[in-house]
Amino acid sequence: MSFIPVLIISLILLVITILLSIADRLLVNYGECKITVHQEGEAREFTVEGGGFLHSDLTSHDINITSSCAGKASCGYCKVRLLSGGGEILPTEEIFMSREENRSGMRLACQVKVKEDIEVFIPDFLTTVRGIVKNKTFDPKLRWKFIKDGRDSFSTEAAITKIAPDDKEKVEAILEEYSGAPGAIVPILQRIDTTFRYLPEPVLRLTSKAIDMPLSEIYRVATFYNAFSLEPRGKYIINICLGTACHVKGASDILSTFERELGITMGETTEDKLFTLEAVMCIGCCGLAPVLKINDDIHGLMTKKKVLKLIKQYKEA
Ligand code: FES
Ligand code: FES
Repeated sequence: MSFIPVLIISLILLVITILLSIADRLLVNYGECKITVHQEGEAREFTVEGGGFLHSDLTSHDINITSSCAGKASCGYCKVRLLSGGGEILPTEEIFMSREENRSGMRLACQVKVKEDIEVFIPDFLTTVRGIVKNKTFDPKLRWKFIKDGRDSFSTEAAITKIAPDDKEKVEAILEEYSGAPGAIVPILQRIDTTFRYLPEPVLRLTSKAIDMPLSEIYRVATFYNAFSLEPRGKYIINICLGTACHVKGASDILSTFERELGITMGETTEDKLFTLEAVMCIGCCGLAPVLKINDDIHGLMTKKKVLKLIKQYKEA
């Protein structure tokens, strides 16, 4: 199949888009627009020539707002909440928003055209990250491939003070162990995850400062590997195998028994922080299907009755 007609059509569309945006810029005069920005408890106000995009207007006024796709609506990091102005959300933005975000006026700053006065709230980047992870409103194939210049707009010091002295000592010992070992971020995160059973945000900030690595880069690694969690997990991580052999032998019944007995669903942690329910695709013990793993212990030939016994046993341990 020849790609030439496709290429020509794409070029024509590109030219039309460019001409339309130039015409829009030249022929439609939106006049001066006032932008009011609320960020980190402070408010700022400035005026811009209408017709540009909110993201560029913010960055050109030294407002910190994260982006990795240079305004192409493909990273979802430039989320802001519009308090007034900005028009209707575009379909290109909607794919990045949970229903709740959509309802609350969240927009991608790079897609908001400034045609009138706008009042905007810029959330902390990590709040945005947590929302994206929770709602899975990101492209899992791209998985946080973002290149950032190292400019992190987070108040590291304030967060670090939230770490309990004992925990700080533990983290410092881990960091000390890997000092002088460039590229050791994965083992460092593994050790932190094992120590705290997840990656606490203040600890990641401390790590970022200690090893001089942008926090955004640390989050890129942290969210790439399924083994890491950004949410607190239970003392016992129950990994239920849902691979083919286990599935055939009734793994879904085992899963629903755990869900019913613990009152949580897959990916959740019990309120007492004792159990977290997770799934794996094969743990290499297919002969013992259905199989599950609780921390490092394998339990095979599972039945519903055995589930009840296991829960009791670990609760009493
Ligand atoms: S800058 Fe990437 S979505 Fe807006
Ligand atoms: S499929 Fe479950 S252990 Fe292999």
